[in-house]
Amino acid sequence: MYTEKVMDHFTNPRNVGEIKNASGVGEVGNAKCGDIMRIYLQVDNDIITDVKFKTFGCGAAIATSSMVTEMVKGKTLDEALEISNQAVAEALGGLPPAKMHCSNLAADALHEAIKDYIAKKGK
Ligand code: FES
Ligand code: FES
Repeated sequence: MYTEKVMDHFTNPRNVGEIKNASGVGEVGNAKCGDIMRIYLQVDNDIITDVKFKTFGCGAAIATSSMVTEMVKGKTLDEALEISNQAVAEALGGLPPAKMHCSNLAADALHEAIKDYIAKKGK
């Protein structure tokens, strides 16, 4: 039911943890199931130089979180804002229909973290 990529990112998630004094932090809860994901970004000159995540959730949520961190590292903020939940699920080779909602956390938390960074910078 899960692709090899999903199983790989679930059993061996990349970039787990947190960044102290992160440039931006985004947290999103999934209304459907109560799972929570938090993303920490380090931004230098509008480029995401480091990213870490913590997800309290199911395997699909962890796999999508892990995948989104790999997708954004080294990207500009504009490029990162273009990453959709759908794109993350596709990068994992797809998710079972019942688990598609789990992919909502990853890109949403990423976008929240970017908004947080922009808001902080504006001050
Ligand atoms: Fe998220 Fe079960 S609802 S782990
Ligand atoms: Fe809640 Fe997957 S079951 S995010």
